Amino acid sequence: MKFLCVPLLLSALAIALPQAETAPCVNTAPPRTITPSTGGTGPYKSHFFSDPTLPNHVVYQPKNPAGLKMPVIVWGNGQCFGDGAIFQAFLGQVASYGIVVLAGGKLGTGTNERVTAATMKQGIDWAVKVAGTGNYSHLDASQLAVWGQSCGGLLAIQNAGDERVTSVGIFNSGSSMIGGSAVSLRGLKKPVFYFVGGTCDMAYPSAESDFKVIPQGTPAWKGNLPVGHTATFPEVNAGRFGMAGVYLAQWLLRGNESASRWFVSGAKGEGWSVEHHDLDKIQVPAISK
Ligand SMILES: *[C@@H]1O[C@H](CO)[C@@H](O)[C@H](O)[C@H]1NC(C)=O
Ligand SMILES: *[C@@H]1O[C@H](CO)[C@@H](O)[C@H](O)[C@H]1NC(C)=O
Repeated sequence: MKFLCVPLLLSALAIALPQAETAPCVNTAPPRTITPSTGGTGPYKSHFFSDPTLPNHVVYQPKNPAGLKMPVIVWGNGQCFGDGAIFQAFLGQVASYGIVVLAGGKLGTGTNERVTAATMKQGIDWAVKVAGTGNYSHLDASQLAVWGQSCGGLLAIQNAGDERVTSVGIFNSGSSMIGGSAVSLRGLKKPVFYFVGGTCDMAYPSAESDFKVIPQGTPAWKGNLPVGHTATFPEVNAGRFGMAGVYLAQWLLRGNESASRWFVSGAKGEGWSVEHHDLDKIQVPAISK
């Protein structure tokens, strides 16, 4: 699939409407070139590897867990690429804040294979099974998020209803993209967060309509930064989307209330257009060290 942008039209609109988005907006599919992970900017340098007991995934986590308990994110790549190293800049960044990430796709398969909702479910099953045991004594699956970008966001939406999933992170995606459906959002009670690339993100209409489907009473947040569908994922440590993911993980997975401030005030100051409701209902026990 190829998605073309209309940069000239958008810059013409930006001139006509001074408050319209003026930042460069690239509406291409997620990158096929891999930006290497730096190990992240968090307090625990991360690394990634494949574990033979978890086929079809790549594990990201701090190199030295040092007694820290860690929640888990099961991730779906953009384009549903079946290589768990493709989003390493982003996932290495998030993991460095004390998170175990299971990215769908084997290590080094490139972009020819695809992951599905069933792949993501295998990641959830494995996390719940190994949590607190053997090599994963640091893993605490009581906070378990499904996240994904573009096609991978659809996999997260499809797994959102799984009772073991405690929160959902959707990046440049929405349920009506690529023939998906919003059915799994209608009765959802757990927090759902959308990170969108502004009006020139091909996921924009879908994310906007999803946000209206999420019931009142369910904590929901949506932020638009005018950077397009690829967002800042190709940047070192995934740039501003990388930090947005960090704040989400700190708050909803590690129970760090201070990180909630970014969603209600900090993001706006950084140029995100934000909508939210029922965030005061979010209660996450802080993960014990
Ligand atoms: C734990 O990790 C070590 C080193 O990577 C490996 O040799 C061992 O087989 C793993 N144990 C289990 C139960 O997977
Ligand atoms: C909690 O989140 C804030 C905001 O991101 C961060 O500055 C702080 O270091 C975090 N605290 C812990 C204990 O991780």
